[in-house]
Amino acid sequence: MKLSTLGSIFSFLAGTNALTLNIASSGGNKSSSLLYGLLYEDIYHSGDGGLYGELIRNRAFQGSSANRVASLDRNTDYWHPVGEGVTLEIDTSSPALSSSLPYQMRVDVPAGTTGRVGFYNDGFWGFNVDATQEYIASLYMRGEYSGTVETYFHSSTSDSVLGSTTTSIASSAGKWTQGYSPVFHPTASGADANNTFYFTFDGAQLAGKSIYVNLLSVFKQTYKNRINGVRTDLAEALDGLSQKYIRLPGGNNMEGLYSPYYWKWNETIGDLVNRPGRPGTWGDINTDGFGLVEQMQLAEDLGLEVILGVWAGLYLNGQLIAEADLDPYVDQVMDELEFLLGDTSTTYGSLRASLGHPAPYKLAYIEVGNEDYLNGGTSSYYAYRYAAFHNAISAAYPTIPLISTINPNPINTEGAALDLHIYGNQAYFASLFGTFDQASRSYPVFVNEYAATNTGSNTRGEIGAQTLGMACAEAIFLLGCERNSDVVVGSAYGALIKSYDEEPGTVAVIKHTANEVLRTMSYYVQKLFAENMGSETVPVSVNGGGFGPVYWSATRDAEGKTILKLVNYGGEIGEENAVQVVVEGSSAGTATLTSLTADSVDSVNNLEALGGEASVITTTTLQGNNGVFSVAFDKAYEIVILVV
Ligand code: AHR
Repeated sequence: MKLSTLGSIFSFLAGTNALTLNIASSGGNKSSSLLYGLLYEDIYHSGDGGLYGELIRNRAFQGSSANRVASLDRNTDYWHPVGEGVTLEIDTSSPALSSSLPYQMRVDVPAGTTGRVGFYNDGFWGFNVDATQEYIASLYMRGEYSGTVETYFHSSTSDSVLGSTTTSIASSAGKWTQGYSPVFHPTASGADANNTFYFTFDGAQLAGKSIYVNLLSVFKQTYKNRINGVRTDLAEALDGLSQKYIRLPGGNNMEGLYSPYYWKWNETIGDLVNRPGRPGTWGDINTDGFGLVEQMQLAEDLGLEVILGVWAGLYLNGQLIAEADLDPYVDQVMDELEFLLGDTSTTYGSLRASLGHPAPYKLAYIEVGNEDYLNGGTSSYYAYRYAAFHNAISAAYPTIPLISTINPNPINTEGAALDLHIYGNQAYFASLFGTFDQASRSYPVFVNEYAATNTGSNTRGEIGAQTLGMACAEAIFLLGCERNSDVVVGSAYGALIKSYDEEPGTVAVIKHTANEVLRTMSYYVQKLFAENMGSETVPVSVNGGGFGPVYWSATRDAEGKTILKLVNYGGEIGEENAVQVVVEGSSAGTATLTSLTADSVDSVNNLEALGGEASVITTTTLQGNNGVFSVAFDKAYEIVILVV
């Protein structure tokens, strides 16, 4: 972005095709204060192995993710024995750690063993080992043993131990004993994520014997030091987005692939030994360690309003709960709402207090289901499913608005909200600019999932991480939402977080490895849009052209600042094509101008080792004259925000 010359002479510089935008000082609509939000669900390790701070993979033998298919087959995947002849087996002998975690790992140690024996874990594509941070390890064990447990990271790259801790544990055959390491700092940071985590025992004591272990854990210091909390770098990346709300817990992952594995709130709370986990929708077993309370805590820590999704009786394979059988599922939702919202005199409100949160949480909206049109769900949603949840929830919580996942809302009265999910290629997204211009003002709209995906041979239609072109197309779509934010209440990108190791080529706001956080092009679009929100739209009249290849939207904030967002989508660049901006009623001589662009329309943000971030954000002061400014694009694909 080049700074233009003074506005008073811009008319000499501007070419004949240049646009002039006259921004009115009033006359628009009130904007939604929630316009930019997040969708959280555990998809491709957004939760387990992602946000959730647990670093051990397959910590409680809750199922298999072999070949990226979640199943309840138990195995010792990601675990390896330590010591000559030591073997690891899945075991179901009694007593189990809990009825929720009935499988454990048996460690058989051959007779005559001396030295250290045990096992190590691969983590989720390795471990982040950071000597500046605190870690703590723990396990449950059963079997005759009275001795030390050593826990440590080992670097496969340098073949060295990165600091070890020792703790004593005395366990017996008939019952489970929990042991904790001391809080420790690794003595050195890992050169990379190629690290493993070890638990070892005195082999002489265990020679010819077996021990049983379960719920093995290592946590790094979490965001805001929450117990059972989240990864700091990922939470900070979320915080940096400056979004206003979060929808949780999904997404298709809430629905479940097949009966009975929908997301059950009561199996995700309390002591971890009482959380059975479930086969998730996206190829992985969910531990449910990052459960309802942890998700609500994250929302509080990030200052986000919450849209709670509740399961509405449809599995992804099309299995449905019949009308006659629906009541218990409605009751479960009412229990969940009492847990979240009830005072401490209620059964579930008191349970919430006992888990450390006496004050009720707040819910901005409740969304009934997710994509209930999938796999034959539409007719039952209209016939009875939506109404059953709507009637019960509205009777108890009349001030909390509900959102339908199908358009139109089955209760088609004034103010009934709906959620549209919009995915498509870049060209499609750019074409959506005017989508809401003629929308009825009677039905508030959320776009609680959207993403420009790319075309290609991939049958899933999601090739590659976001390019600058895709991000600009998303920005055009968001301009259309902002222009109509009297009716478009919120927008959220799907998906929010994915593991780069698992899904390098599909879209997300953020990708991560054990060691890195990758902010995509879309991340920066959402961040800049949310950081530059107005409280009302203001009309813009145009001379010299119309929408495309330049698109715009103008708002004013509560302080009276005018915010103009522009997207150059394959348009002209340079001073001679500068957009001339007239802010009516303003005498300002300077404006703040922020630009997001990259070298080429195909540029993508990548991990450091693969080129790093291609996106470039600059903020400059633009000189103007009496509220008149000349904005020149530097790149054919560029997003510019002018604040006057
Ligand atoms: O964002 C990814 C998925 O896409 C969501 O789980 C689902 O609701 C949508 O179809």
